[in-house]
Amino acid sequence: MTNSPLLVTGGTGTLGGHVLPLLRAAGHDVRVLTRGARPDADGVRFVTGDLLKDEGTGAAVDGVGTVLHLAGGAKGDDVATRHLVRAAQRAGVRHLVYISVVGADRLPLGYFRSKLGAEQAVADSGLPYSMLRAAQFHDLALKVAAGMGRLPVVPAPGGLRWQPVDSRDVAARLVELALDEPAGLVPDLVGPTVYPLAELVRGYLKARGRRRPALPVRVPGKVGRAYRAGDNLTLAGAERGGRTWEAFLAERVG
Ligand SMILES: NC(=O)c1ccc[n+]([C@@H]2O[C@H](COP(=O)([O-])OP(=O)(O)OC[C@H]3O[C@@H](n4cnc5c(N)ncnc54)[C@H](OP(=O)(O)O)[C@@H]3O)[C@@H](O)[C@H]2O)c1
Repeated sequence: MTNSPLLVTGGTGTLGGHVLPLLRAAGHDVRVLTRGARPDADGVRFVTGDLLKDEGTGAAVDGVGTVLHLAGGAKGDDVATRHLVRAAQRAGVRHLVYISVVGADRLPLGYFRSKLGAEQAVADSGLPYSMLRAAQFHDLALKVAAGMGRLPVVPAPGGLRWQPVDSRDVAARLVELALDEPAGLVPDLVGPTVYPLAELVRGYLKARGRRRPALPVRVPGKVGRAYRAGDNLTLAGAERGGRTWEAFLAERVG
């Protein structure tokens, strides 16, 4: 395709890894911003930069019409996104697609606050945008469950629930958004089922053929209250990914 390439930040990550082939299959050239260096391959060109340090940002967005901003870390997504937004404004980007997290506007935790700051940078930028809040990915649930499953006794935080979603379903939705007109904040995307965290761990242990005793614990303070109130969930009005946690476990662990 001779059209301008799409820029994918975070194209080397879990979500990005699912997004790239979908964009390529739709016939688009893709540019990926990464802090590392990689050889170009199959219509994907890697450019080096660091959004937190604001290095390489201008070159990454140069000549790009649509940006899928998927880069993220435990900290600083607000700062990184402000840098990207400023470069995108200068470059005249026509559509900025951002992945946020369910509960960004509610949970009193640093990661969620920085996602909200990033959302605000996008929404206040004046750039046409689409923004999707997704629930925790199955990949993350697996990492958490595997970590907790290594303990001799598994903590079971009362009232803490997740509705994990498959990162392939999130990727498909983001590509759909990127190839359509800017839509603003769209309905949240969550997984098909709500699980107590302890049940996710139990499912993982079962798939590994293991059992561990559970120890009920209470998450203290306002974070605990927010989780018990379900502030990290979207129980009504969300779109639901089709792939289940059980199917994911069977693929990855079974
Ligand atoms: N994981 C979840 O459960 C979940 C749920 C909802 C929303 N999200 C959001 O979805 C996005 C992708 O998550 P993921 O789990 O796929 O992430 P991931 O696998 O941890 O990958 C992170 C990506 O961000 C890039 N990155 C990190 N810091 C960067 C920086 N300073 N400059 C440029 N690139 C940087 C990394 O690129 P290099 O290492 O190549 O530089 C990598 O491609 C994130 O924004 C995350 O907040 C995740």
